[in-house]
Amino acid sequence: MFRVTRRYQFAASHRLHAHGLSDEENRRLYGKCNNPFGHGHNYVLEVSARGPADANTGSAVDPRRLDELVAREVLQPFEHRNLNCDVEAFRDLTPTSENLAVEICRRLKRSWPVAFPGEWPKLEKVRIAETARNIFEMDAHEIP
Ligand code: NI
Repeated sequence: MFRVTRRYQFAASHRLHAHGLSDEENRRLYGKCNNPFGHGHNYVLEVSARGPADANTGSAVDPRRLDELVAREVLQPFEHRNLNCDVEAFRDLTPTSENLAVEICRRLKRSWPVAFPGEWPKLEKVRIAETARNIFEMDAHEIP
């Protein structure tokens, strides 16, 4: 069994602001990330899939299929977007990197069976580096 990871990048902006909290509480909680004008990140996304090497191709994951899936579900809809305004899931949900990882995982899982109709590979993990110091991992099995 192999775990294969592909790395992608996209740039997007966001503002961290929880609707259920007061302006003062938001400022205290998120600091400069609560700035009303938002700010951008160059996100580094890693997608990991697990499976055996195929007997014919010798590969566990077809990188072209994975690239197409990630481009369609994540890179195209998120690239140079304002996550708060342009992504439906974040209209009412704060686009922290934790919530972003959940949303990316959901999108990939939803279209996974079309991109990879066989038993393998399975989506295993999504990892987002928001900055070099802030890294968020989500186990794909935890998403229903
Ligand atoms: Ni931020």
